[in-house]
Amino acid sequence: MRWGRLWNEFYKNNDERIFTTSQPPDLHIEDFLNLHSFDPNIKILDSGCGGGKNTQLIYSRFKNTYGVDISEHAIIDAKKNLPEVNFSVQDVRELNFDNEFFDVVIDAGCMHVEHPKYNRKIAEEYHRILKPNGNFFIRLFYREEDKIIEQPIFFFDVETKQMPVYGYRYEDIVKLFDGLFKGFSYPADHKGTYFLDMRKI
Ligand SMILES: C[S@@+](CC[C@H](N)C(=O)[O-])C[C@H]1O[C@@H](n2cnc3c(N)ncnc32)[C@H](O)[C@@H]1O
Repeated sequence: MRWGRLWNEFYKNNDERIFTTSQPPDLHIEDFLNLHSFDPNIKILDSGCGGGKNTQLIYSRFKNTYGVDISEHAIIDAKKNLPEVNFSVQDVRELNFDNEFFDVVIDAGCMHVEHPKYNRKIAEEYHRILKPNGNFFIRLFYREEDKIIEQPIFFFDVETKQMPVYGYRYEDIVKLFDGLFKGFSYPADHKGTYFLDMRKI
């Protein structure tokens, strides 16, 4: 699995400890959790958790926290720092969880590093593992009008042009989550990053 290998290499050589517990969690994840005041007993998934940067915040509030990532290296590192979290190496395109297992799924930067051809499949997986009316939060980058969706907006590895990151437009998002999730309301001219706080339909 070439894609997984590249992310694994990234974490293997991750001297700056990017996406690990040594970095502060994202403020927008904190806002999302504060806004909803979820019951502390819920089951919650940090999807594409990397080395646990956001998982550490999630776990501080919810003991039934799960984290998955395609990189074995990232998961080993995350487990070392957060031994009580249910971490596993998994591919978000085909998750190994029962239907309706989670109350909340968070995707902070995972879907938009996968090729857009997989995005509907990933959205369907999140939908499948969420309980009825479950909450889904996702962060996605914006795509300029002159770029097509398959054209990366930048590369993690700038020199080799590997590890692409893809951007979205409002209409892409509407199509991607159609019939699966509801509740986001962002202006059609929004530019920058989308923080989408949705519910399973
Ligand atoms: C931009 S990083 C974000 C990491 C973390 N969510 C954070 O905010 O610190 C994207 C993560 O998605 C993971 N990833 C990419 N494709 C994946 C896939 N198909 N299944 C699971 N994880 C994947 C990468 O290994 C990486 O850890």
